[in-house]
Amino acid sequence: MKQKTHISFKLNGEQTEVAFAPHKTLLEVVREDLNLTGTKHGCELGECGTCTVLVDGRSILSCLMLGLEAEGREVKTIEGMAEGVDLHPLQQTFADLGAAQCGYCSPGFLLVAEELLQKNPKPTRMEIQEELSGNLCRCTGYIKIYEAVELAAAKMRGEEMELPHESVFGIE
Ligand code: FES
Ligand code: FES
Repeated sequence: MKQKTHISFKLNGEQTEVAFAPHKTLLEVVREDLNLTGTKHGCELGECGTCTVLVDGRSILSCLMLGLEAEGREVKTIEGMAEGVDLHPLQQTFADLGAAQCGYCSPGFLLVAEELLQKNPKPTRMEIQEELSGNLCRCTGYIKIYEAVELAAAKMRGEEMELPHESVFGIE
């Protein structure tokens, strides 16, 4: 019988205990042992960003972190982003503006964007681009993602923001 390791940590605000084979990455533990499949398997090489989670408030690539390193830490996955039935403003603007299409990359983008807006409530387009540069999207062309982050940031600051007509209604 294979030996399992056991950790205790906070996951999406809940104290959590889990046992798993010690070689497993945090990505594998979250998906396979805790059944939270919102965090996506991509390259598993640290290149695509789709496995991003927040550990102690900072975005990390869960394919590059061992599960046992989460002992005593606070981990947030995409399942912890909404408040009950209320979507996070970023989730809402991603949906409204078509920044999530196939959606495979979205959990990673959303969590990196959440971290960005926590530390910088009014980022420039360049700052958003830089912060999200470790995340790949094959569907959107990125512009809709940047606009969704800008719109969410404005809403979170309590401000109105005018979007280009084609962002809302498409090219006519
Ligand atoms: S799956 Fe982790 S960076 Fe691609
Ligand atoms: S929405 Fe499909 S990969 Fe980004």
